[in-house]
Amino acid sequence: MNPHDIEEFELDTILDLIDKCYGYNFKDYSRASIKRRIQNLASACNCEHISELIPKVLYQDNFLDKFLKGMSVTVTDMFRDPWVFKIFKEKIIPQLRIHPQINIWHAGCATGEEVYSMAILLKEEGLLKYSRIYATDFNNHSLDIAKKGIYPLEKMQRYSKNYLDAGGKYSLSEYYDVKYDVAKFSRELTERITFSHHNMGVDQAFGEMNLIICRNVLIYFNKTLQNRVFTLFYDSLMPRGVLLLGDKESIDYSEINSKLTAVSSKARIYQVR
Ligand SMILES: C[S@@+](CC[C@H](N)C(=O)[O-])C[C@H]1O[C@@H](n2cnc3c(N)ncnc32)[C@H](O)[C@@H]1O
Repeated sequence: MNPHDIEEFELDTILDLIDKCYGYNFKDYSRASIKRRIQNLASACNCEHISELIPKVLYQDNFLDKFLKGMSVTVTDMFRDPWVFKIFKEKIIPQLRIHPQINIWHAGCATGEEVYSMAILLKEEGLLKYSRIYATDFNNHSLDIAKKGIYPLEKMQRYSKNYLDAGGKYSLSEYYDVKYDVAKFSRELTERITFSHHNMGVDQAFGEMNLIICRNVLIYFNKTLQNRVFTLFYDSLMPRGVLLLGDKESIDYSEINSKLTAVSSKARIYQVR
């Protein structure tokens, strides 16, 4: 075998093992990105070859957490793509007002910035007190940060700009307290949010959701996994439930395409027919 084939074999072996040992299927992730991440993880563990990770998978306590942390791309922002929040406010908020309780699922919430953004938007529209927000990810390290709701103060300048560009009514600083060099989001926001571990690759539907937000996650999946997740979302949505995806993601050509209609193709907002 040439070196390339050997590495591909090692990669398949590790992915098989992770699936067998822990039930996490990374074979349906985009191959190039997962290979790069496993190579980086191997280097960080001082391994020359990917296959040297095998004993760690088999015998090292807590290796799964380290592995998942290495596999997940956690880049996020508050009010990411502010214009999407503007369209969401205009097209979806009036529809949410009709519900006595609004159930929201943020799937792949990373460190929580997107979740706090939505909580702030709902608060400004008077809907937060009627909302229950479930935010999930398979990266426990990210979830720990998300639960605390504490972020570096230096990021707040950019987040404040995004908030205003998204149509924020006041000042972002209304929603957090400053201590030394960090900003901590208020209890009023955090108490409406439940952060928990959930793997979209294997775990079940969440049930009875009025809104599912899953942005910038599906781009890392192949068609098979995307379709699994789309079906999971469809099964979790109430009649007329809304799905919000990232700006490079769409339900076009997916198995649920005929079951939802686009409210805004540009903002990737879809609704159960
Ligand atoms: C790039 S971040 C997106 C964060 C946020 N939604 C945003 O758009 O700013 C992708 C997140 O998806 C999570 N993720 C990837 N695969 C997942 C899976 N199978 N189940 C749950 N979360 C997953 C990663 O851990 C990561 O936190």
